[in-house]
Amino acid sequence: MIDLVGTIAIDGPAGAGKSTIARILAKKLGYKYIDSGAIYRAITLLAIEQGIEAEDEIGLSRIANNINIEFLPPDQNGINRVILNKVDVTDKLRGGIIDKNVSRIARVKGVRDALLIIQRRLAEDNNIVMDGRDIGSRVLPDAELKLYITASIEERAQRRFTELKEKDVDVDYEDIKSEIYKRDKLDKERKISPLVKAEDAFLLDTTDMSINEVLAKIIEIKKKVERDEDVSL
Ligand code: CDP
Repeated sequence: MIDLVGTIAIDGPAGAGKSTIARILAKKLGYKYIDSGAIYRAITLLAIEQGIEAEDEIGLSRIANNINIEFLPPDQNGINRVILNKVDVTDKLRGGIIDKNVSRIARVKGVRDALLIIQRRLAEDNNIVMDGRDIGSRVLPDAELKLYITASIEERAQRRFTELKEKDVDVDYEDIKSEIYKRDKLDKERKISPLVKAEDAFLLDTTDMSINEVLAKIIEIKKKVERDEDVSL
């Protein structure tokens, strides 16, 4: 049994700002941030590089069972570099082709089984913030604090659009919105560990909230939970 004191699980749909929030929260609390989506993205990258199709369950499970992934502490820009099989792949994990394919790969049973073990092992470190889709509901059901962060699809598409524009990526708002819609649908409707709010997760609709407001709210919730006080949202 893992001792889950100091474990925060953050789930929610695509582009809700989970990773930004989780990264800053981890830094504030002196916790380690683990981006579970990056592991699914890393498997997707390997599958594309090796020409393995999303229907090839055996091939995908083999990749997932042999993956060696490491999250480095934040660099001077606050980025947690991701080392996959000894290679820094951080800059390859976000954007176009990975976004398009990741949810089809994340629904494969062999992939999810392998990742469950990897994610639970990463959580043994204690004092971690882990974000994803099924962290509170499946991976770490005994987490000390669970949050479900969402926002309207228009707001999420706009945030992703701005993020990519800032990186000088040529993108179209409507394309991003439809991509997010499709990914959410696949994530919510898959058979194994779909995206769902854990019953005991606190729901935060961040549509009209700034990052600082969301962070302040989470810290407030955390304190109340620690003191065993009622949390009204
Ligand atoms: O950052 P964003 O919300 O766009 O996505 P992400 O957290 O990087 O996750 C990418 C994809 O990986 C998701 O759309 C899911 O298909 C999959 N995923 C999952 O199935 N379970 C997780 N715990 C994390 C990610």
